[in-house]
Parts: sequence; structure tokens; C-alpha cells
Amino acid sequence: MSDSVNDDLQTRIEDAVKNPRNLGEMKDADAIGTVGSADCGDMLRMWVKFKEEGGRKVIDRATFQTFGCQTAIAVASVATEMLAGKTIAEAKSMSGEDLAAPLGALPPMKIHCAQLVEGALRSALSGEEALKEPEQKITSAPTLLSQLNAGQASEHKVKIVLDHPGRNAPLGRSTIP
Ligand code: FES
Repeated sequence: MSDSVNDDLQTRIEDAVKNPRNLGEMKDADAIGTVGSADCGDMLRMWVKFKEEGGRKVIDRATFQTFGCQTAIAVASVATEMLAGKTIAEAKSMSGEDLAAPLGALPPMKIHCAQLVEGALRSALSGEEALKEPEQKITSAPTLLSQLNAGQASEHKVKIVLDHPGRNAPLGRSTIP
């Protein structure tokens, strides 16, 4: 990958991180999916809301929170924009590469960041069947922070960093020794 392609990709990632779309918890979501990356230990949660459109059930909107790198934030931002209007089958057929497409091709070492987004989406969509009944709708879920801390804090001393003070969702993290 040439330097100019890398520069373009980095610029698009930085732009997406500066102004992430669809960031934050969705209180009235129909489906929710959370995954952690075995490669880097980062986590991403996605909320999905459906609607009927032309006799089809499609994604109305999707939102996310992550303790992940800039690439994961950027991919989740562009992916949640692309998902609006897609059927479940269409969304399930999208790979991490598809979800990251607006950013351009990712270098091999960053592909797992897009796969984190793909995993959270698939997790949400696979759980959708169990949420058909209104009384089963999600009213609350353990926060991403509590899940992360429950799973990792004692082992890795994770420090949460709020990159965007004033927003209600943590965006990144760093690990302290
Ligand atoms: Fe972990 Fe990118 S390095 S998601």
C-alpha cells in the first residue's frame, strides 16, 4: 500500500473519529450485540432498531459504543450509516471489508478492527429473533464499561479515556502498566 493511499485512509479515519456518526446507546433498540476482539482485547457494542418499509423489515438505525482503536470507531461510524434501509439478510451478508468500504481498503493489521464491527452486527442480528415479543424488548443491558471491567480490569489494568468530554459514550482506552 503506497504512502499516499495510507495518508488518504488515515485522513478518512481521523475525520470519522472527529465526528463519529450514530455514537451512543439506543434506549429503544430492538436488538443488541456485543463482541470483544481476541486479537487486541477491544470491545464494541451495536444497537439496532428495525422498521417496516415497503412490506419489508429493514434496519431503521444502528448505533454503537466501543472501547476500541480509531479504526474501529471509524468503521463503526461509516457502517452504521450504511446499515440504514438494509434488510437483515442484506446486513448479515456484509463483511468487515464491506462495512469499512467508505474508508477504503484497510491494511492487514487493521482488518480485525472492521471484523469487530462485523461481529457486533452479526451478534445483534442473530439475537433479533428472540426479541420479537414487545415485552422481551431490551430495556437495559450491562454497560460496556461494566462488561469490560468485569472481564479485564483485574488482569490488564484498563484505564478508560474519554476522548470526547460531554458525550455520553466512551470512545477509546489506553492500557496502563
Ligand atoms: Fe483493537 Fe483496532 S486495534 S479494534
